[in-house]
Amino acid sequence: MTAANHDNWLQSVRWNADHLDLLDQRLLPEEVVYLKLVASKDVWDAIKELKVRGAPAIGIAAAYGLYLGVQGEAGGVPELLAAVKRERDYLASSRPTAVNLFWALDRLVRKASELAEAGADAATIKEGLLQEAIVIQSEDEETNRAIGEHALSLFEDGYGVLTHCNAGGLATARYGTATAPMYLAKEKGWNLRVFADETRPVLQGARLTAFELMRAGIDVTLITDNMAAMVMSKGWIQAVIVGTDRVAANGDVANKIGTYGVAVLAKAHGIPFYVACPMSTIDLNTPTGADIPIEERHEDEVTVGFGKRTAPQGVKVYNPAFDVTPAEYVSAIITEKGIVRAPYADNLRRLFE
Ligand code: MRU
Repeated sequence: MTAANHDNWLQSVRWNADHLDLLDQRLLPEEVVYLKLVASKDVWDAIKELKVRGAPAIGIAAAYGLYLGVQGEAGGVPELLAAVKRERDYLASSRPTAVNLFWALDRLVRKASELAEAGADAATIKEGLLQEAIVIQSEDEETNRAIGEHALSLFEDGYGVLTHCNAGGLATARYGTATAPMYLAKEKGWNLRVFADETRPVLQGARLTAFELMRAGIDVTLITDNMAAMVMSKGWIQAVIVGTDRVAANGDVANKIGTYGVAVLAKAHGIPFYVACPMSTIDLNTPTGADIPIEERHEDEVTVGFGKRTAPQGVKVYNPAFDVTPAEYVSAIITEKGIVRAPYADNLRRLFE
């Protein structure tokens, strides 16, 4: 058995006694820098500016951020519960698409209410909130291993696997969602050949996925986004696997911009297109992909994305951070509870029963 090189593993979010140590993902792969975050505003800014990114990691960071936001509240239980609600709404305004953000924050709000109803004092509620954030983080690690086991049952030794963006360890507590089978394959001694799309405009595939897979000793080849069709046509790809920021009740999937194109290409080449995510990314309250709020980001990501102006000043820019892949292109959704296939409306609902 060849263990993945876990010594090289970088944790994106680390609670450290009374503050959050957060890996600044904007600086990767060149610099490994942990920021010390002491206030909910620090966490809000870090999420907004993509210092922490990826649906599960955003949720984890926000949960700690909520605790940081209320820990100094000097009043009694009613004042604390009001502060919890205020911080929830504040942190929820950082980014709109990844449902894990709202899921984690609402889990802390529920925890505070439950403890208050059980008669806990303010100090006990605050401690309960911190513990809940820690549990969310440790559960995510277990969840991703389970996703990896299920996903690996769809792969074979020697497969070429294409992924888009970074749904890796950096985007989660550990292992990632789309990358979990890659780490587990490495542990088993399998050789997957991973192709990572660079993922314009912010290059999560190049800066993060290629970086973390290389550190783990996994065979990864970087391609620009417009090379995916060529690589598929050569027969080098046996499966595509990506993460997601939100799965709608009908199985439509929001993920990093460009994912939809990859799904269409996969279908054209008869390659299965898999989506890996925790149950917390499935949002039965969002009926279809058209109802998923899609974040639009600053034009500079497109025009000066490489630290150098690459487009004329004043050009009109459209910069959606995510797109929606219709359910008909999704071969399976892989969760910690198992593999779900069409018809998604029925089968996703059943997963929660
Ligand atoms: O803008 P980002 O970097 O937060 O986008 C991340 C993605 O699209 C990921 O694929 C998704 O959040 C899943 S992470 C396990």
